[in-house]
Amino acid sequence: MKFKTTPYHSDLLKDQERLASFYNAICEYSSDNKVAYDLGCGSGILSYFLSSHFEKIISLEKDVKTFQCAKDNLANFSNVQVINSDVLEYNFEKKADLIVCEMMDTALIDEEQIPVINHAKKFLKKTGEIIPKGIINTVELVNLERDYVHWDEDGVHYEVFSDAEVYSKFDFLDEINPNFEKTISIKAKGEGIVNGLKITTFTKLNDDIICGPTPMLNPPLLIPLGNRLVKNNDFINVELKYIMGKGIESIKTDYL
Ligand SMILES: C[S@@+](CC[C@H](N)C(=O)[O-])C[C@H]1O[C@@H](n2cnc3c(N)ncnc32)[C@H](O)[C@@H]1O
Repeated sequence: MKFKTTPYHSDLLKDQERLASFYNAICEYSSDNKVAYDLGCGSGILSYFLSSHFEKIISLEKDVKTFQCAKDNLANFSNVQVINSDVLEYNFEKKADLIVCEMMDTALIDEEQIPVINHAKKFLKKTGEIIPKGIINTVELVNLERDYVHWDEDGVHYEVFSDAEVYSKFDFLDEINPNFEKTISIKAKGEGIVNGLKITTFTKLNDDIICGPTPMLNPPLLIPLGNRLVKNNDFINVELKYIMGKGIESIKTDYL
């Protein structure tokens, strides 16, 4: 099937590892399920995957141009209803068996995954499930070339000064406070100047499928810190704060 998309959603469709992990998680549902929501449906690709597993799919997209693409792409699927709405302003009439929500980004800071899931969960059946199921975040000490928050993309260089340590995990079925705040102790590896943190997010599609960062699903985030000379095996204590859904401007870091 050929999808009409915006340039951004076209890049999302080209990321095969991202798509395959959602496809495999959705395919674990048999074909006799009732209601699924696809929140932030974009081009409608995940609704298309859901269409052979659910009787009714309610797909919400807040951007009007993107909504129009999804509506056209899914016009021949009578069990998919595409709605142009912000999820946070939408009151669902039917309770869902499954919520699919791909508003992911690294540590869930820059997109509305957590506020949206917290709202939509009120309309999930007691036995209902969410794809993805949750995330695992790791942190590393690094030396960065750039002094502003940026993503680890082509052309970005940095040196790593620790192993990756898990600093937080979320299960989307739990009630999640978007205000994240934690003091993290990271053991340095090697000697040199540390001036930043690298955050990596792994996406748990379900209990069996974990997807690492891919080009369009949570590329690692690089966050500046003050300069600190570290020696091998030093413990570096860092305070990390951000508000999930409020953007990278909400990130605050400091040494303790
Ligand atoms: C990362 S894209 C994923 C698109 C599609 N689900 C996919 O997997 O290719 C997230 C989409 O969610 C939409 N979105 C973000 N916040 C939203 C909100 N509060 N309500 C509805 N849509 C939202 C964006 O416009 C964007 O199209």
